[in-house]
Amino acid sequence: MKKLLVTMLLVAATAATAHAGLKVVGKGDAMRLDSSNFPPAMKANYEIMRVKCVKCHTMERTIVAIQTGVAPISGQPFDRNATKAYGIKMLRKPDSNMSKAEVKASVDLMNYLLSEAEK
Ligand code: HEC
Repeated sequence: MKKLLVTMLLVAATAATAHAGLKVVGKGDAMRLDSSNFPPAMKANYEIMRVKCVKCHTMERTIVAIQTGVAPISGQPFDRNATKAYGIKMLRKPDSNMSKAEVKASVDLMNYLLSEAEK
């Protein structure tokens, strides 16, 4: 168990240095982004994502996809070519409670975050 914990910490530390451009706060279900340095439009988009994209799962799922470039459930690539399709997939889920505009805001934000994560 201790060994597993150490491995997990190491993995987390490596991920954090590899993607210094993304400021992630907290971990697990409490994981979120520090949006204080986002441009105003992206800050507004984050306010939408923070509310709309946590109805069925936590922000961790989205953040991990952006950090790793791999969608955590399907194992499919998560890059700028894929964000729109994931957004639409979420919109179409039963009771997603999102408008097209809200999904677009989230997709724009994910594209911005992907380019930030590369820095
Ligand atoms: C109505 C429930 C619901 C809402 C709202 C929702 N999701 Fe999801 N999400 C799911 C489910 C269920 C999955 C499991 C995998 C799948 O079905 O694609 C998932 C999976 C994901 C994945 C991983 C996809 C994969 O293939 O591994 C990402 C990334 C994601 N969601 C991001 C988002 C974002 C961003 C939003 C807001 C725009 C959002 N989700 C809103 C239900 C939802």
